[in-house]
Amino acid sequence: MNYPVWDVPILGSAWVIGIIAIFHVMISHFAVGGGFYLPMAERKALRDGSGEWLTAIRAHSKFFLVLTTSFGAVSGVGIWFAIGLASPESTSTLIHNFVFGWAMEWCFFLVEISTALVYYYTWGRVSDRLHLRLGWIYAGTSWCTLVIINGILTFMLTPGSAWLAVAGTGQEASRFWSAFFNPTYWPSLVLRTLVCLALAGVWALITASRINGFEHPRLKTEWISWSARWLVPAFLLMPLALVWYLASVPESSRHLMQAGISTIGSGVFTQITRAALVTVMTSATILAVVYFLAIRNPRDFGFGHGVAVLVLALCATGATEHAREMIRKPYTIGQHMYSNGVRRSDVARLNEVGYAASSPWRDSQMETGEMMFRGQCMNCHTVDGYRSMRKLLEGHDREAIARIVNLLHQAPADSPYRNFMPPVVGTPAEVNALVGYLDRTVNGTKAGPSAPESLTKKYSRASPALGLPMTAAANQPDR
Ligand code: HEC
Repeated sequence: MNYPVWDVPILGSAWVIGIIAIFHVMISHFAVGGGFYLPMAERKALRDGSGEWLTAIRAHSKFFLVLTTSFGAVSGVGIWFAIGLASPESTSTLIHNFVFGWAMEWCFFLVEISTALVYYYTWGRVSDRLHLRLGWIYAGTSWCTLVIINGILTFMLTPGSAWLAVAGTGQEASRFWSAFFNPTYWPSLVLRTLVCLALAGVWALITASRINGFEHPRLKTEWISWSARWLVPAFLLMPLALVWYLASVPESSRHLMQAGISTIGSGVFTQITRAALVTVMTSATILAVVYFLAIRNPRDFGFGHGVAVLVLALCATGATEHAREMIRKPYTIGQHMYSNGVRRSDVARLNEVGYAASSPWRDSQMETGEMMFRGQCMNCHTVDGYRSMRKLLEGHDREAIARIVNLLHQAPADSPYRNFMPPVVGTPAEVNALVGYLDRTVNGTKAGPSAPESLTKKYSRASPALGLPMTAAANQPDR
């Protein structure tokens, strides 16, 4: 809230993070899973004395090196840029808490990337044993990068009671380890490790699919079926790990999921349900493609098939990460900080002193209503694009808009919006200004030059109840 808002038209800032994150997840999990895949494949080739295999693995390790150290690293930094711009307040909280976590992470990155380079450039130049060892050092350090980032990612959904007890007191960093090993830490680590192994298999299928099955029938058959097996642990254990994960998620989020499943086809929560369905369906399709094409018919497994599996995996990853984001709503840091950077503990104070007082635009020409919208809504909404205000409020006159905004402001315990939208904070006049801004944006009502006072006057007659505590009737959800 102490920063300007990053305005991304149509797409919305959240999607910028989402798009970068989906690619990053695909590549970074491959960087970990591939770390185990390479030395295991190499060991098998050495045991079987297969020179053909060694050549193929060497080619795969080049692909691995280029993809993970360039795209993996760049997309990782890209996430930093995007979250720093979209959610500066939450990013700042994470850094303050986990600065030493990141210091450890970077040490592991350094060893990881150096070993990846050494591993690739020492093929055939050092003893087999030493080369394999390099592979294992890579595997160990890259898994450690997951071990650390997993603590920070899961913290955002479930910071844990010990950390929440000191949140906002300046003592947060003293609860580093309990925040790190938070309630969803272990199930998430297991889930992500399984995903890493599966993605190692998926990416290896891409390299293997390019081997000519007529020139090297044996190599192709063996390599494809060996790689396809990397998907098996994920398919067997993922459902169990997922149940464990969901059991560790806070009651409110689980409630959100169940609401989604029971109101399928009607409520907003179907977004989560839909995402879950996409994950299940794409996973089932991957299973079918891998079984019928890769395992039953490896010689004919072509590049197109490999890419198809990869695209399906991309969809599954995207849907799962989207569901994880939805579960966390309306917070970026569970029970502590809302997606728009407002701390839960600050709500009462901001309602008292006003939102504008702490806004970067307080001294600017920006009209209060627009400032409210930019500061409090634009993390999740756009005017015309993703979760468009114009669409969501279509057909609402000013009074109807006022009812919704007041409901968001009061956020009574039974408000359906509480599960996914933060309360609107601000003084009654500020809330009123937001209503005016939305009304003008959606209904195109002409307003004079940006002068909040004249607007308030202009509209106060049309809707006298605005800004005042709601009546029982107004307390009802709009639809
Ligand atoms: C944490 C993210 C988030 C924030 C911040 C947020 N919203 Fe929403 N909002 C949502 C989601 C999710 C939906 C459901 C969207 C859908 O159905 O497509 C929604 C729906 C709505 C709807 C439609 C409600 C209905 O009954 O159909 C309105 C109106 C709305 N938001 C207004 C606002 C306003 C005004 C703000 C700022 C004060 C705001 N939102 C801030 C996430 C958010």
